[in-house]
Amino acid sequence: STYRVGYIIGSLSRKSINRTLAKALIRLAPEELEFVEIGIGDLPLYNHDFDLDYPPEGRALKDAIASVDAILFVTPEYNRSIPGALKNAIDWASRPWGSNSFTHKPSAVIGASPGKIGTAVAQQSLRSVLSFCNSPQMNAPEGYIQFSPEVFTEEGEVLDDTTARFLRDFMDEFAVHIARVCTVLSAQR
Ligand code: FNR
Repeated sequence: STYRVGYIIGSLSRKSINRTLAKALIRLAPEELEFVEIGIGDLPLYNHDFDLDYPPEGRALKDAIASVDAILFVTPEYNRSIPGALKNAIDWASRPWGSNSFTHKPSAVIGASPGKIGTAVAQQSLRSVLSFCNSPQMNAPEGYIQFSPEVFTEEGEVLDDTTARFLRDFMDEFAVHIARVCTVLSAQR
């Protein structure tokens, strides 16, 4: 069957290398995955006073997550953690109390940086957050991508075969992970 994947880019930059990486992942993904971007740039800064009456931006985010089978996080590393904009979005989606949008929603985490660290530390931090939010995460493979404009075109073409094979495998495994979680969940319903 087909699965809908909502992808969240952790960067609000117009020239984001993580947006380019997301384009590449979508190109290389297996046919059974369909993609829709879940934007996080319009959200106000969350505080729990909003729980009494969620604004349209907060409701739109929760509706978008509810409408997909899985979430793919493609994020930069900011100061050895995830960008504030991404954390803010996760906080919005995790609330109001008792209606956490991530519960039982399969996810995967990947990211790119120009340096060799490849967002490894940010991903570790994001994994802790997603664990607390009860999202069944794909454990492996991990994707720490050192971004180079010689490997990725702006349209998300991958010019290096080894990188393309790695990213294709990552998305194949994500499809398997989603199918596994969704099969268990539908059997329980
Ligand atoms: C960075 N960058 C960065 N890179 C990294 O590997 N580890 C880090 O901790 C940080 N910290 C950091 C903080 C801030 C505030 C900025 C603006 C940048 C560099 C970062 O990887 C680079 O700017 C990427 O291009 C950001 O990803 P996007 O926005 O292009 O997708």
